[in-house]
Amino acid sequence: MSTSGEVSTSGTVSTSGTVSADRNGSDPILVVEGLKKYYPVRGGVLGGKIGEIRAVDGVSFSVRRGETLGLVGESGCGKSTLGRALNRLEEPTAGTVLFEGKDLAHATGKELFSLRRDIQMIFQDPYSSLNPRMTIGEIVREPLLVHRVGTRAEQVEKVRELLEVVGLAADTLERYPHEFSGGQRQRVGLARALTLEPKLVIADEPVSALDVSVQSQVLNLMVRLQRERNLTYVFISHDLSVVEYISDTIAIMYLGRIVEVGPVETIFERPAHPYTRALIEAIPVPDPRQKHEAKPLEGEAPSPVSPPPGCPFHPRCPFAIDACREVIPALEPVGASEAVGAAGTAGASDVVGASELVGVSELLGVSERVGVPGVAASEEDGGREHLAACIRKGEI
Ligand SMILES: Nc1ncnc2c1ncn2[C@@H]1O[C@H](COP(=O)(O)OP(=O)(O)O)[C@@H](O)[C@H]1O
Ligand code: SF4
Ligand SMILES: [Mg+2]
Repeated sequence: MSTSGEVSTSGTVSTSGTVSADRNGSDPILVVEGLKKYYPVRGGVLGGKIGEIRAVDGVSFSVRRGETLGLVGESGCGKSTLGRALNRLEEPTAGTVLFEGKDLAHATGKELFSLRRDIQMIFQDPYSSLNPRMTIGEIVREPLLVHRVGTRAEQVEKVRELLEVVGLAADTLERYPHEFSGGQRQRVGLARALTLEPKLVIADEPVSALDVSVQSQVLNLMVRLQRERNLTYVFISHDLSVVEYISDTIAIMYLGRIVEVGPVETIFERPAHPYTRALIEAIPVPDPRQKHEAKPLEGEAPSPVSPPPGCPFHPRCPFAIDACREVIPALEPVGASEAVGAAGTAGASDVVGASELVGVSELLGVSERVGVPGVAASEEDGGREHLAACIRKGEI
């Protein structure tokens, strides 16, 4: 079956494989399937390949036009690599990235050049991402020069308009990045990202380097721009509370994979995956009268060079049972009392526990169980048990 997951859902999806950000059935603008990015690890006397870093390890999701997919996870889980692979700043090792139906992962030459025009990036560090030797006017205008859009006068006019749109004064044009604060620089980054009128903006930790008060200003600006321009965002952050503010859908990433996805309110009200729960519990509570105390996530994320077998979260999971060390749980709709429906199953995953979840197979269109290659029947049973345990212990 298809793993793209263009099925509407109001539940959350707990997974180690495939996810969907679709919610109300309209066509997604971005459909990512089985995306992988491995980096070689070199060593030895001859500097040959001795291993690989599985930075992104088979990620699938889709995003609807005009919506925001928030991508969250701890540092090193592969968020930036995934963001860069989406517009080919990184060459994917495998998988497809369909943008408006065209495969960006395999596009070349003119096609890639023109696809890139529609997909822009904003980066975390507004200090290093702007060339210190260029004026703000030159920085914002540069994409128009590269893509040969408009006459000089039209380009300058466009730059003026954009600086105004992001709330910067007209005299900003002739000034240099070092003359501005972090928040102002990030506004410049936004103006530059919008110069070519993109459809999709991938924002990689865009407010993480900013003071909290400035963060909300930049987030508000991003929300307004999205509404006015019908932009689609992939918003990457290690901070679940920032992502909560801006996202329609949240995808939780752990060790190169997406482990849960769902509408923002469902993720917060009824998180299914123990890792999602741990991330939510780790959010600091500003109000001292609240009973809930932030519980920092224990243990370190394992290395993507030698990920643990089975569920990659098992060394840190309070609910782990023996089977968790052997079988990776597959994407499964959870919260079966809701109108669930979601992405399909990744080829490398086992549809465990499908029979426990009412109507899941029908909703998914799964006509048969998909086994993990090399997993014997008895392990599949263990798999069923362990997903049931995962869900049961999560009190779902
Ligand atoms: N160019 C690279 N070469 C080798 N390893 C890399 C490279 N970029 C990232 N990695 C590794 O890939 C993993 C994911 O990194 P990254 O995507 O930056 O995570 P995040 O953005 O979630 O912090 C990390 O283990 C990181 O060390
Ligand atoms: S219960 Fe098992 S499968 Fe579920 S998150 Fe914990 S270790 Fe992973
Ligand atoms: Mg990063």
